[in-house]
Amino acid sequence: MAKLSAPKGTKDILPGESYQWQYVESVLKQIAKDFNFKELRTPTFEATEVFARGVGDTTDVVTKEMYTFLDKGGRSITLRPEGTAGIARSFVEHGLYAGVLPLKLWYLISCFRYEKPQAGRLREFHQFGIEMLGTTTPLADAEAILFGNEIFKRFQIGNITLNLNNIGCKECRKAYNEKLKAFLEEKKDSLCETCQERLGKNPMRIFDCKSEICQSLIADAPTIFDSVCEDCKNHFEEVTNILDTVGVSYKIDKGIVRGLDYYSKTVFEFVSQNIGAQGTVLGGGRYDGLIADLGGNDAPGIGFAMGLERLLLLLGDSIPVADTTPRILLIPIGDDAKKVAWKLVSDLRSRGISAEYDINCRSVKAQMKYADKIGANYTVVLGDEEVSKNQYQLKNMQTGESVTVALEQIADILSETTEG
Ligand code: HAM
Repeated sequence: MAKLSAPKGTKDILPGESYQWQYVESVLKQIAKDFNFKELRTPTFEATEVFARGVGDTTDVVTKEMYTFLDKGGRSITLRPEGTAGIARSFVEHGLYAGVLPLKLWYLISCFRYEKPQAGRLREFHQFGIEMLGTTTPLADAEAILFGNEIFKRFQIGNITLNLNNIGCKECRKAYNEKLKAFLEEKKDSLCETCQERLGKNPMRIFDCKSEICQSLIADAPTIFDSVCEDCKNHFEEVTNILDTVGVSYKIDKGIVRGLDYYSKTVFEFVSQNIGAQGTVLGGGRYDGLIADLGGNDAPGIGFAMGLERLLLLLGDSIPVADTTPRILLIPIGDDAKKVAWKLVSDLRSRGISAEYDINCRSVKAQMKYADKIGANYTVVLGDEEVSKNQYQLKNMQTGESVTVALEQIADILSETTEG
């Protein structure tokens, strides 16, 4: 029979590494709490239209990378390639604009994109993200960026560059698209087929093209940063003023357009040089038209998402190893002792003390080895004599020392030593 393996571009998170994920997730949740964000959970799949309308039907994500299928009812369904569109759909569906604004949300999700797998790029990957809905102010943009910045601070990750760009509003984009079209008109025939199509539909997407020829053709193109309207310019200036005041350093990168269509005004990326080609660990920006595009009231928003696989690559061995060892392994010999052990293990667990017995019921010698393998802090052998006298040898596996105790003392001793 053919050997089964996980699908290409997906990964099992094995028991020896899941503590790293739990650690990272707990720190992120704590930061979200410190910034007063609340969790919103949306389904793993949505109607395809949510992404086609939200992310944009000329983006690579929508045209090439989505896991889309018809369900048994004939509906077109897509596994979410990102979190923002689903959050926006939920915001509209539940009329959340009628509640307290801005709504500050976080999420921890798996996402799916049919991309060529490589280090830091998977087909199923995980994102931690935030979204703030119902806010237009530059301070909201700064809040999102400061949240991102805090993540790297909290994990003590250095060598990260914050890149910012201003990609204007719908109005300045319209004027800019004409400028870009005029610039590319003469070079049109040299563009790849996809970009020729993009030129007509959504010229800014040409910046996403991986073809070297297309990249060289747009190298000297006018930038959106230099073409934004007065309002967008002032908004961006205020964002940078806030960052300057707080002392967060950044670079202006006029080449950032982001791969998703919903963005407007401020866009940003936190990039590391230490993890290879997929160095963008966190990306986000403002999306003032998204909610309206999904049929809702006009509620501007801003947010970001960070790839957890990339964060873990950056953290490497610096994650503290979790203590997952049990406090005690009970080793019963004989049927009566087994019953005592079952009762004791259950009492200890109810008191929050991690207790184990060998459910494979191996020999005493094998169980001693098992105690070593699982790193049990203590062992106790329960034989007929111990049970009848209520005198047990509680062995500290690290020091090798044993103390004689009564059954009812064991829990107290273990909890005392836990606290110590
Ligand atoms: P994105 O730039 O497409 O933005 O993805 C955000 C982050 O997800 C990336 O910076 C990267 O760390 C991670 N990522 C993306 N694709 C992959 C992949 N194939 N494998 C591993 N990691 C990946 C968004 O998704 C937006 N929804 C962010 C946002 C939220 N903007 C506003 N609000």
